[in-house]
Amino acid sequence: MPDLRGKRILLGVTGSIAAYKAADWLRSLVKEEARVTVVMTEAAERFVSPLTFSALSGQSVYRDMFDEAPDRIMAHINLSREADAILVAPATAQTIARLAHGMADNLLSTVILAARIPVIICPAMNSFMLSHPATQDNIRRLESFGYHFVQPGSGELACGEIGDGRLSDWDVARETLLSLFQPNDLKGQTVLITAGPTREALDPARFLTNRSSGKMGFALARTARRRGAEVILVAGPVQLSDPPGIEAVHVTTAEEMRRAVMDRATTADVVVKSAAVADFRPLVCADHKIKKGQQGIQLDLIKNPDILAELGAMRTHGRILVGFAAESRDHADEGQRKLREKNVDLMVVNDILGASTGFDVETNQVTLIDRREALTLPLLSKEETADRIWDKVLQLQSESSAA
Ligand code: CTP
Repeated sequence: MPDLRGKRILLGVTGSIAAYKAADWLRSLVKEEARVTVVMTEAAERFVSPLTFSALSGQSVYRDMFDEAPDRIMAHINLSREADAILVAPATAQTIARLAHGMADNLLSTVILAARIPVIICPAMNSFMLSHPATQDNIRRLESFGYHFVQPGSGELACGEIGDGRLSDWDVARETLLSLFQPNDLKGQTVLITAGPTREALDPARFLTNRSSGKMGFALARTARRRGAEVILVAGPVQLSDPPGIEAVHVTTAEEMRRAVMDRATTADVVVKSAAVADFRPLVCADHKIKKGQQGIQLDLIKNPDILAELGAMRTHGRILVGFAAESRDHADEGQRKLREKNVDLMVVNDILGASTGFDVETNQVTLIDRREALTLPLLSKEETADRIWDKVLQLQSESSAA
């Protein structure tokens, strides 16, 4: 299950103005049923009261190296033994410097020095402090030790300056955290995913499109990234934010999608076409709004390029091609036909009439059809479905390299 349920997270909060945001992150972690223990530095307590964190985590906050309570005497050793990962958020320049030099002069730095579990650091500071060579050196040094960094965001900072140094959004840190608990089995691979609908303009005000939300394609992008892949996501118009850590290319029409895919497909080890490409577009797009004046109108439509079939026709050895078929009837037959006709390795077939498998829902139930077998998966979340698709892709890759 690609979520944080039951994961034991040690949240280290240090003395930045962004410390109040860590309280919100803690809430999100608790909502996902992660088990969170909080360690605060003295400076962090100047910004937010430990009471806030203990109320939200349901246990008292660790603050002092020399706490004499019997269960806390060896806290600097025990805390990391009892955790799956350490998340330092926000991490100040001072804490980063401490950790880079192996200092053990407060509880948090001592815990981290004694830890043998993954550490994620989320810097938050003034942009000059962040770009200073000393901080940059410290970050590189910590990266060389295997620490993970979450890129700070850009924008207006508490000091009034505009630049890099804002604590990242929770979603970005969450993705890094989730990737720790996933196999890194797509590392070294570039995957190109298409998602969402396309729009084909009729006039300046109107277009033809379909009901695709892009959720399945975005789930594929997030899960592939978590499993270590370099991800290129070519998305039609959707109401979703770009997953962190990927290259997102936004397009509108089928023709634009085709160009974006063809420009990048040669670098991809896997291409997954989950987009619902409009099959037809208006022969002409009127320069001005079409007036209703008459009783009815005839639309002249011409066929759009079939991007997947084009990729299938110019297959390169080793590249896995995956297509989607959203069907309302004859699902298996249609999947088999498209597998053959488009010359792809895998078709993912789903039923668009099902209440939990149709458009714009969080779940899906698909059948994976390859040249040897058809495998029907249970009803799963779109992320779980995406993970099963990646498992299948890896299986097809290992079968093809063994052949
Ligand atoms: N596809 C594509 N370019 C198109 C149409 C479809 O790349 N112009 C891809 C889709 O992204 C999907 C697969 O082909 O991966 C199947 O799409 P689908 O719409 O189910 O099939 P069609 O080819 O449109 O066939 P039909 O209209 O007969 O269902």
